[in-house]
Amino acid sequence: SKKHKVTVVGSGNWGSTIAKIVAENTKAHPDVFEEDVQMWVYEEEVTIPKDSKNFDASADEPQKLTTIINKYHENVKYLPNILLPKNIIANPSVVDAVKDSTILVFNLPHQFIGRISKQLEGQILPFARGISCIKGVNVTSSEISLFSEWIGEGLGIYCGALSGANIANEIAAEKWSETTIAYDPPMIDSRAATPQGGSPSTSQINLTITPADDEHKDARGRVSKAKLKAVPSDYAPLDHAIFKMLFHRPYFHVRMVDDVAGVSLGGALKNIVALAAGFVDGRGWGDNAKAAVMRVGLLEMVKFGKEFFGHSVHAGTFTEESCGVADLITSCSGGRNFRCAKMAVERGVGVEEVEKTELNGQKLQGTSTAKEVNSFLKTRGKVDEYPLFKAVLDILEGRNSVDDIPDLVAKADD
Ligand code: NAD
Ligand code: 13P
Repeated sequence: SKKHKVTVVGSGNWGSTIAKIVAENTKAHPDVFEEDVQMWVYEEEVTIPKDSKNFDASADEPQKLTTIINKYHENVKYLPNILLPKNIIANPSVVDAVKDSTILVFNLPHQFIGRISKQLEGQILPFARGISCIKGVNVTSSEISLFSEWIGEGLGIYCGALSGANIANEIAAEKWSETTIAYDPPMIDSRAATPQGGSPSTSQINLTITPADDEHKDARGRVSKAKLKAVPSDYAPLDHAIFKMLFHRPYFHVRMVDDVAGVSLGGALKNIVALAAGFVDGRGWGDNAKAAVMRVGLLEMVKFGKEFFGHSVHAGTFTEESCGVADLITSCSGGRNFRCAKMAVERGVGVEEVEKTELNGQKLQGTSTAKEVNSFLKTRGKVDEYPLFKAVLDILEGRNSVDDIPDLVAKADD
């Protein structure tokens, strides 16, 4: 049978780590996947740091990041000191990188996906499938959608989501973690709906396309049966089993679920809460205060999911899966949003300034997500019902200080 070709769209700290995982697995399953994995790289000139094991005095000048990755198999800027598999091919052209790929893994800071997705329209295999590893939500005026939905709709494909308690540097060093992958396509391909060795899952059978919707979208904005192209039968079906094969490693344990909204929202909203955790920690208030903002934050995350994605989200995804409370805990312990917010309070400067000076080009997602989620809540007249989300934005924009947090979140109990 034909082999699936995989492209990772993005090559930052998490993008490079996911490419490493995927490339290890394509090599381990040569009967199912093409061994080489294309990785789209936003091209830039980079000088190899002098403390890098790949430092080469003859290459002391800035070079293209793609050249460095393909020659030294290290992303010296975004994932330094990690040897990448040789079957990762860094490609500066996103259109060329996705050519003939059946599986597209989207993994870049959410502020950049719009432009990239536009460039891909009409350039991908019509029967490709996507997995979004992006932590953020897509807000346009008074509407909100998941990036998986938005990518899927824009490209005319089905896109699932991967999210978990996944600090990239730990996983790149092959320290054990868990993750959650949600994949629940409309049932156009009976092979895809049948888990290996089992019968179709209940939720897949019951996924209904509301008749009143236009023919291209279902009620959640996903590409409908009418538009979705079946994976040709000379390829292995793109189902839960194959995505587990592609992402599961001894150090990266995958649980497959159907709740794409729950998986995506956990990863997006916890970034706002992690900023609050950083604020109170930077203020020197210790672990009890941090636990308090995590408690209130989790309640707001679940409330948000139920209120705006209630027809598809399962509250259990937030409490039972890696993408929920576990991601909240890890992000509030060692994530970049937490660390930068903490440093900002300790130094008396803005979070965006710390992002610029400390992250070497990596991007925070919590600051923009706080703005986007609050602007969406405002258009719905609901902003006061989410006092922690509001407090984070008001602190970021100087309308409140960290000292106001206890009184502000007390409103959650009113
Ligand atoms: P990152 O924070 O390392 O961001 C840097 C990346 O953005 C680089 O690849 C850079 O080339 C790219 N970039 C910069 N300017 C660009 C532009 N104008 N257009 C396109 N790309 C541009 O990225 P990351 O850590 O790989 O994060 C990607 C997603 O994964 C985010 O949504 C993040 O929340 C999520 N995530 C990150 C981690 C982590 O620990 N890093 C873990 C889980 C999930
Ligand atoms: P940060 O972007 O705050 O580092 O969070 C990483 C993450 O999503 C861990 O699961």
